[in-house]
Amino acid sequence: MLTPPQLAALHLASFSVAPRLFAAPGRVNLIGEHTDYCDGFVMPAAIDFSTVVAISPRADGRVLAHSVNFNQSIDKSVYELLDAGIASLRADRKLHWSDYPAGVLWSLREALPQHAASIAAGFSLTIAGDVPLGAGLSSSASIEVATAFAVLGVLNITLPLPQIAQLCRRAENAFVGANVGIMDQFVSCCGVQDHAVMIDCRSLDYTLAPIPSQARIVICNSMVKHSVAGGEYNTRRAEIEEGTAILRSHRPEIGALRDATVDDLARWGHEMPTNVLRRCRHVITEDNRVLAAVEAFRAADLTRFGQLMAEAHASFRDDFEASCPEIDTLVSLAVQQPGCYGARITGGGFGGCTVNLVKDENAESFATELRKRYLERFNITAETFVADPVDGALLRNARTLAEVAQA
Ligand code: GLA
Repeated sequence: MLTPPQLAALHLASFSVAPRLFAAPGRVNLIGEHTDYCDGFVMPAAIDFSTVVAISPRADGRVLAHSVNFNQSIDKSVYELLDAGIASLRADRKLHWSDYPAGVLWSLREALPQHAASIAAGFSLTIAGDVPLGAGLSSSASIEVATAFAVLGVLNITLPLPQIAQLCRRAENAFVGANVGIMDQFVSCCGVQDHAVMIDCRSLDYTLAPIPSQARIVICNSMVKHSVAGGEYNTRRAEIEEGTAILRSHRPEIGALRDATVDDLARWGHEMPTNVLRRCRHVITEDNRVLAAVEAFRAADLTRFGQLMAEAHASFRDDFEASCPEIDTLVSLAVQQPGCYGARITGGGFGGCTVNLVKDENAESFATELRKRYLERFNITAETFVADPVDGALLRNARTLAEVAQA
């Protein structure tokens, strides 16, 4: 990955203007999967992989964007990129990396009509990142949030952090076409070093949960590609909505599954197709696990936290049916290793990564052993990362800019 000064130099060489740089991290979710769009609870942490956007404003109504990772550029009028882009949104549209920054420009322009003229003037963007793509570590949210901070930064617009996260989510829902929740964009904005963030996805209140000092987070990428823009994620959301509507027909105060209980399911679950019942059971029980997990972290009870991770994984695999054999094997190999408190799939599902909570002194050997055993089993070389949580975009950007200034 280019260093910030190298990225700034590349931008200057391409566009003859010195840029400002803005960064936003990816995330790992410790517990609370597919609860965010049910107004529930999640517990992610920002991690040390990020997207950095170099930006300078233009005056010719064009967006010139270069992706270092894809080694591709686009040069389009703002009209063509945003208005023609949203009009061409169809279920079968082939995704392009530029849909993410374009979606954010579109979303900002929609939400801030008083700044539409400044947005319509255009931007030059040079984008680079090291968040593994398609691994369930929120490369999409990191590019969205970095772009939003970049545009807001150069236009000198101040917005409350939850609104920035919501604008980025809207870009992904309405422009990219992935019906995701708020978790990834929110934690990419508000993450804090050495902490997980417990987010109430209804109120958008959040509390910081310090990672107990004796534990490290180890991420293992199964290398099985995951994508929330594919059909399965949206199918799960539709199933959840079907189940929620049935419960709501009995208890109108159920606005989202956050408001439902396992007793509601026991009473009315028989009215649902079995798959719908199971999806709802996963979400309702997962919300309870997140609340219990926060308490476990506060009490530094890592054994309890690990048990909750095991229950969350079983629920994701059996009720949500969104795991895969490679991931299930990684989880069962992990929990056999010395010092492993718990392991589970993280992110949207259907591949991607596992998250493991491991005793500090065992973290490196745990990662080595897990890769070795996975290779023996599937002949796939997994990637592992010991991931200490980092600051999100809000706290991070001041530092990144300072580094550039010193270079
Ligand atoms: C993806 C989505 C999130 C969330 C998770 C599952 O990462 O972007 O909004 O729904 O899947 O917990």
